[in-house]
Amino acid sequence: MEVRQIDPRDEVAFDAWFAVMEATDHERWPDKPGWQRPERRAMALDDDGPQEHRCLSAYADGRVVGIGDLTMYRRENGHAAELTVAVLAPARRQGVGSAVVAEAERLSSAAGRRELGGMDEVPTRTGYEDAAGVFAPGLGFAPAQHMVRRELAVPLDPARFRSLVDDPRSNPPGYSLITFVDRWPDAFIEDRCELGRRMSTDVPMGDQERDEEVWDEARVRHSEASFAAQHRAKVTTAARHDASGRLVSFTEIAVPLGAPESSWQHDTLVMREHRGHGLGFASKVANVAAVLGAYPAVRTISTWNAAENHHMIAVNDAMGFQVVAHSTFWLKKLAAPGS
Ligand SMILES: CC(C)(COP(=O)(O)OP(=O)(O)OC[C@H]1O[C@@H](n2cnc3c(N)ncnc32)[C@H](O)[C@@H]1OP(=O)(O)O)[C@@H](O)C(=O)NCCC(=O)NCCS
Repeated sequence: MEVRQIDPRDEVAFDAWFAVMEATDHERWPDKPGWQRPERRAMALDDDGPQEHRCLSAYADGRVVGIGDLTMYRRENGHAAELTVAVLAPARRQGVGSAVVAEAERLSSAAGRRELGGMDEVPTRTGYEDAAGVFAPGLGFAPAQHMVRRELAVPLDPARFRSLVDDPRSNPPGYSLITFVDRWPDAFIEDRCELGRRMSTDVPMGDQERDEEVWDEARVRHSEASFAAQHRAKVTTAARHDASGRLVSFTEIAVPLGAPESSWQHDTLVMREHRGHGLGFASKVANVAAVLGAYPAVRTISTWNAAENHHMIAVNDAMGFQVVAHSTFWLKKLAAPGS
């Protein structure tokens, strides 16, 4: 068995890599579409975005039986790398997963990374075996953060939706909600950069260290272009502080255009000085309505929160999100190359 980094421009090699991701996604969530090929291919082909994705394939007898998606940050966080590892069920307990992790550690150390992290995901439904809970600590990884995945089934019952819209928190005085699809309006680009900078350090990160990100218009537009290349739409609702005219919060939902039934909550941030006015609740309710207006095929919205992120979880609970999975972010300090 051999683990190799494949070239995502090689369609045959990429298809074999993606087939393992698709099969293991389906094993975990049999009734969901999972990652889409255009999403993962565009991520792998993005050669100057803030994240580099390296595709690792474990070959046994010429077939790919296990994979890794090794993420390295290109701008900030030069100390960190992250790995997703998955092995086809019939090939498990034969050292394939360990070999993928070993190769990821080697490549990460060679790129000067001092730590390797990775998140598992264990659905709450019965019948899913949590292999990661034994596998990861056995390879020297320690839990750095606990995350919970929640899902909102949509469309909501009309009476329930009405009660969310009529909730006083949905109409915070002194603020106006603005919704847009895909492209952040030029007039508010500076506010987007400030929100991006703050988002990078304001979210609870457990034992992970994260650098503050530098955002400029090029970064915003590059991220929008990457999204389009991944064949995904993004619906955003932002709150404008009427007195200053600045956008002071945002929340975004990604919709895979090839499989819109499962959609994904991305960033949500209310600037510290504007917290406590219901902006998180108001903008999330408005954004769900906007998503359903633009993409009526959406059936679920999934969100991940750090278990300690009580304010965000309170908003999600009030909206009717239900817990569907628990995750651990595993972290390992890497030895310097040659040590
Ligand atoms: C987790 C996963 C990648 C492990 O792949 P693998 O090829 O079976 O891993 P290995 O054969 O290298 O296992 C190494 C050790 O991990 C432990 N381990 C792995 N799977 C285990 C399981 N189901 N139950 C108990 N221990 C397990 C064992 O100690 C094993 O050594 P052993 O077989 O000599 O006892 C695989 O089960 C998988 O793809 N699961 C779904 C995706 C996933 O959860 N990925 C996140 C990983 S953090």
